[in-house]
Amino acid sequence: MPHLRNALITGANRGLGFEIARQLGVLGHRVFIGSRQLELGVAAAAALREAGIDARAVQIDAADSASIAAAVRTVAAQVEVLDVLVNNAGTFVEAWGTQPSAVTVQEMRATFDTNFFGAFEILREFTPLLARSQAARVVNISSDMGSLTHINNPESHVYAVVGPAYQASKIALNALTALFAKQFKDSPAKVNSASPGWCRTDMGGEGAPLSVAEGADTAVWLATLPDDGPSGQFFSATRQRGTMEW
Ligand SMILES: NC(=O)c1ccc[n+]([C@@H]2O[C@H](COP(=O)([O-])OP(=O)(O)OC[C@H]3O[C@@H](n4cnc5c(N)ncnc54)[C@H](OP(=O)(O)O)[C@@H]3O)[C@@H](O)[C@H]2O)c1
Repeated sequence: MPHLRNALITGANRGLGFEIARQLGVLGHRVFIGSRQLELGVAAAAALREAGIDARAVQIDAADSASIAAAVRTVAAQVEVLDVLVNNAGTFVEAWGTQPSAVTVQEMRATFDTNFFGAFEILREFTPLLARSQAARVVNISSDMGSLTHINNPESHVYAVVGPAYQASKIALNALTALFAKQFKDSPAKVNSASPGWCRTDMGGEGAPLSVAEGADTAVWLATLPDDGPSGQFFSATRQRGTMEW
């Protein structure tokens, strides 16, 4: 009998991460709610359990190697296999509109610590558990703002949006998608980037056009891809899961 698919979503105590976990739970996954403050993850997992979902909290701070190592031990103590990893935890540190030369090195490093190094280390450290899955799916939550093509296209909605540390970190995250997908190409594992579009979360603000449910949709689709689904690609939410230009 096939086992319940196990999914870890980072930054799942609120926003898009919580909604991705909820949707995966509704689809029958056992969900590990990653959160850097354990009590927030415990509360989020309890809310999902009330909805009948097998949800468990795991402390994981993407910017803390010891926390990541401990999270691997916590998950491995409960399940033998990890089927889905959603690298959702993300931060936007600089003020909107800050020009590249005004971004501080501290802001750039803090952004990369979570959005790039964190995602890398989490994927790296969970690779052995993912390798035990017959159909591992990794989803890196990127952004339209992480498309070099759109950044340089005056016709694009991204052109006028400026958040250099955030943008550079999401471009780097997309590189991880391509590189890990190539490493895993002869295995069942698939690695893709998802842009949620501009969504109404604490990060996106109340004026964003998309709900969290709409923003979560592409990530959930990529987390549940069939064996003949794509790998090593970047998908947009705002264009009905269409391929996004890198
Ligand atoms: N909302 C949008 O319009 C939009 C658009 C494009 C891409 N995205 C991406 O979507 C993802 C989720 O964003 P969101 O809109 O849901 O943002 P959010 O509401 O601000 O939530 C961010 C989540 O990430 C967590 N987080 C931040 N730094 C972390 C770290 N070092 N370790 C672990 N968790 C950390 C936060 O935890 P705490 O509660 O502890 O702070 C929170 O759970 C991010 O990667 C973001 O870049 C969002």
